[in-house]
Amino acid sequence: MTEVVLVTGASSGVGEALAPLLAARGYRVYGMSRRAVDLKGVISLPADVTDARSLVQSVDRIIAETGRLDAVLHCAGIGGAGPVEQMPTERARQIMETNFWGSWNLCQATIPHLRKSPRGRLVLVGSIAGFMGIPFRSAYCASKAALKTMTDSLRMELKGTNLQATMVAPGDIATNSIATQYRQPAEDLDPVYQARYRKADDGMAANVNHGMDAGYVAEEIYKIMNKDTLDPYYVVGEFLQRASTVASRWLPGRVWERVLGRYYS
Ligand SMILES: NC(=O)c1ccc[n+]([C@@H]2O[C@H](COP(=O)([O-])OP(=O)(O)OC[C@H]3O[C@@H](n4cnc5c(N)ncnc54)[C@H](OP(=O)(O)O)[C@@H]3O)[C@@H](O)[C@H]2O)c1
Repeated sequence: MTEVVLVTGASSGVGEALAPLLAARGYRVYGMSRRAVDLKGVISLPADVTDARSLVQSVDRIIAETGRLDAVLHCAGIGGAGPVEQMPTERARQIMETNFWGSWNLCQATIPHLRKSPRGRLVLVGSIAGFMGIPFRSAYCASKAALKTMTDSLRMELKGTNLQATMVAPGDIATNSIATQYRQPAEDLDPVYQARYRKADDGMAANVNHGMDAGYVAEEIYKIMNKDTLDPYYVVGEFLQRASTVASRWLPGRVWERVLGRYYS
C-alpha cells in the first residue's frame, strides 16, 4: 500500500525540498501552502493553516481521494523581527497565529486520520529559537516554544495509539524565510534599540543566508519519520547550535543570558 503524506510549507524552503524527495521515494505526497505548488510528483493542495475550516476541507479531500493519511510533515511557518515594546501587535499575532494556532489547527484536522494509520507519524517543525529567547525575535521564539510544549503534551496524550508525534528543531537554514518575513524598519524604533536591533537583525539574516541547505534538513526529516520510535524532539544544526539548546536549560539563568548577550551585543 502506498503511504499518503501531507507536507505543509511546500511552496518554499524545507517543505519545497521535502515534498518531491518523498514523492521520488514512493509516497503519495500532498503539498500544502497558501500558494499552489508545481513540484515533481506532488499534488498541490492550497490552504492556509490559520483557517481551520479550509484546512479540514483540504484534509477531507486527501481522505476522499486516497482513504488514508499516514504522515504529516509540518514545515509551514513564518518569522518576524521587532522589539516587544514597539513591534506592531498584529504582526506578532500573525506569527503566533501561523506557527502555533496553525499547528494546532493542523493537529485537529489530521490526527483523527493519522490515528487510523498502522504507523502514523506527525512531525512538527519548530526551531532552536523555541528553546531560548532571542532579542528582537520574541514572537517567533514564543511561537516555537509554545509549539514545543504542545508537542510534549500531545505525545503523552497519544500514548497507546498508532500515532507518534515529534518536533524537529532546526538551526539556521538558507531559505527565503528572511526575505519574505516582516522585519520592522530600524528607523521606526526608539533610539535605545536602533543600533542593537540593526546588529541583531543583520546577524540573523547573515546566519540564515549561510545556514544549512534545505535539502539536508529534508533528508534529516525523512530519516526521523522512518525511525521506529520517535524522540520528543530532534535538534538539527551545527554543534554550537545543538549545544545551545542544552546550555540554555542547564546553565544558571544569568550565566546563560550573559553567554547569549555576548553573541548579540
Ligand atoms: N530558515 C530558517 O533558518 C529556519 C530555522 C529554524 C526553523 N525554521 C522553521 O522551519 C520551517 C520551514 O522554514 P523555511 O525556512 O523553509 O521557510 P520558508 O522558506 O519561508 O517557507 C515557509 C513555508 O510556509 C508556508 N506558509 C507560511 N504561512 C502559511 C500559512 N498561513 N498557511 C500555509 N502555509 C504557510 C509558505 O507558503 P505560502 O507563503 O505559499 O503560504 C512556505 O511554503 C518553518 O516552520 C520555520 O519557522 C526555519
